[in-house]
Amino acid sequence: MRVRVLATPDAIARMLARDIARRLARNPRLVLGLPTGLTPIPFYRELARLYRAGRVDFSQATTFNLDEFVGLPSSDPRSYRAFMQRYMFDDVNLPSRRAHFLDGMAADIDRECVRYERAIARAGGIDVQILGIGANGHIGFNEPSDALQARTHHTHLRDATRRANAALFGGRLADVPHQALSMGMATILHAKRVVMIATGASKARSVARMVQGPVTPRVPASFLQLHRYAEVWLDRAAASRL
Ligand code: GLP
Repeated sequence: MRVRVLATPDAIARMLARDIARRLARNPRLVLGLPTGLTPIPFYRELARLYRAGRVDFSQATTFNLDEFVGLPSSDPRSYRAFMQRYMFDDVNLPSRRAHFLDGMAADIDRECVRYERAIARAGGIDVQILGIGANGHIGFNEPSDALQARTHHTHLRDATRRANAALFGGRLADVPHQALSMGMATILHAKRVVMIATGASKARSVARMVQGPVTPRVPASFLQLHRYAEVWLDRAAASRL
């Protein structure tokens, strides 16, 4: 894994946004995989700023979000779709038909997962998958367990993960859904390039286990060690246990 340590979360946001803008200039039809969470917000705001400055163009780009809660309609402000609208999509020229999300209200969940995998394949696969990491080592909603799912699937969320997402629900843990849909580990590893961003001391332990520990489903992010071109962008606090 290529580890890059930058001084601050803002430095990560600025460099990664410029990197994506350059890639889009070279390949306007870039396919991006995108995460939610607090970590990528400065990056999304920076992309919106670059767009306003005329320095990035999403008119031919395609995006696939990593995951979504089950049971929230897309109009729900707490859904990941609403999150993306709020922090980025409302402010850039990405055509909505090319912004792909899992539908947490789908009547047939298994079919919805297959639909998503097919849509990714039809788009030619993901060129750059951006990721965050949970404090328990999850990526997307691939939770620590005895075994991981390869492809997009339906999953039960651990309490630690529900607590980490409670801020989206006004801090009310009881309101955080127990189930979600998520890309699987193979979906993620098949991206041509993977960029994990992690900031803050609360991520230092899971970052060290991801980079230096064994590859184990107990730390789903450790599977990124198997990727041919995985980068890990950290601030000093997240890198402090390496
Ligand atoms: C959620 C998302 C993950 C994300 C994680 C970390 O569980 N499903 O994709 O990486 O949160 O979020 P944060 O960046 O807020 O720590």
